[in-house]
Parts: sequence; C-alpha cells; structure tokens
Amino acid sequence: MVDQKKISNIHISVNPLVKGDIPQLEPILRQHIKDRYTEDVDEEEVRSIIEYMRGNAEESRGGNARRYLVAKNQEGRVIGCVSCSEPEQDMLEHFGVSIDEAAEGLNLFVDNTFSNQNVGTELVENMFNAARTEGKKYVIVNSGPRYMKAWSFHDKMFDERRGFMVGKYGSGGDAMTWIKTL
Ligand SMILES: CC(C)(COP(=O)(O)OP(=O)(O)OC[C@H]1O[C@@H](n2cnc3c(N)ncnc32)[C@H](O)[C@@H]1OP(=O)(O)O)[C@@H](O)C(=O)NCCC(=O)NCCS
Repeated sequence: MVDQKKISNIHISVNPLVKGDIPQLEPILRQHIKDRYTEDVDEEEVRSIIEYMRGNAEESRGGNARRYLVAKNQEGRVIGCVSCSEPEQDMLEHFGVSIDEAAEGLNLFVDNTFSNQNVGTELVENMFNAARTEGKKYVIVNSGPRYMKAWSFHDKMFDERRGFMVGKYGSGGDAMTWIKTL
C-alpha cells in the first residue's frame, strides 16, 4: 500500500501564533467544532477559542493565557494549531500532578485539506518541546466524544491512556485522557 505521507511535498513550519493568523484559523475551527448531535458549528465554542487566541480571555482562566502554536505550509498558509496551557484543576486532580510539573494540550486542529500529512504530529511535537522549555515534566490532554476519531492519534503521540473523566463534557460527554512524560 502507498503511504500517503511519503508522496506529500508539504513543508511544515510551526511558530507562536500572531494575531494575523486568526482570520485563517477561524474556518479551520469551524470544520471541527460541531455539536456532537446536530453537527451544527458550535458558534459559542468557536467564539471562545478566538477570544483565547486574541489573548482577551485570560481573566476567565485565572490569568493563565493559552499559548498557541500555528502550523503553516511553505506558502505561509495557516494549516493548523494547538495550544499549551496551565492545566485546569480537574485535570491536575485526575492525573495527580502539580501545576508546576504539567502543561495541558488543548485546541489541536488541522485543516481537513492537509490531514494525514504530519501536521498534527508536528504541532504536538512542538507543543512537547514548548512544555520542555518551560521546565515541565508532563503534558496531559483530554478528548471528549466529539473528537473520538482522533483518539488513536493521541495513542500514537502520548505514552499511555489514563482513563475517563466521567461527565467532563456534560451528560454522555466522558473524556478519555493521555499523558506524555517529557
Ligand atoms: C487528529 C488530527 C489533529 C490529526 O492531524 P493530522 O495532521 O491529520 O495527523 P498526522 O498526519 O500528523 O498523523 C496521523 C496519524 O494518526 C493516525 N490517526 C488517527 N486518527 C486520525 C484522524 N482522525 N485523522 C488523521 N489521522 C489519524 C493516522 O493513522 C496517522 O498514523 P501514522 O502516522 O502511523 O500513519 C486532525 O485529524 C484533526 O484536526 N482532527 C479534528 C480535531 C481533533 O480531533 N482534534 C483533537 C481534539 S482532542
């Protein structure tokens, strides 16, 4: 079988988000952030992530800004993003780790046009490096049923699963969790 990645010519660069990336990120968010029952775009969630991207939402997260990384192709087109953040309290409790030793991965999205061409892998590896640079020991992540198709991707990138956070995303919204030791 031909490995699609081997015939891909895409050159991926990953850098911290600049505000000018946001208009190109919005349609990528809208490809993926959909109600798990109706498939409608979850407008509130999209707006909230854009606010985080604009750096305007620190207050609601206790001043802990999300630090976004953005992937671009060789033409400078935005093709994906991820964020590296201070973990939420329920995540710290679930994993039994401290805020000093762990970073949380959030908001990993790759443009469908570029899927399965290593963009997600590059983003997550850059996120691991960013956390390492900050002196963290672990990266932790959770993923709800909306993104269940990506669970095998997390299996590939992280060391192991650490069980469900039951009801993390409401009724029927149990989230699987993963940890990576840096
Ligand atoms: C999951 C996602 C980030 C993967 O990005 P990508 O650039 O397509 O992934 P890569 O090409 O780096 O790696 C793909 C690898 O993961 C595996 N994989 C598992 N689930 C996958 C999925 N849904 N899409 C693509 N690859 C997937 C592939 O088999 C492939 O393995 P291989 O390298 O051994 O061949 C992307 O599909 C996406 O944005 N999904 C929607 C949003 C989402 O689920 N985000 C995570 C929220 S927790």
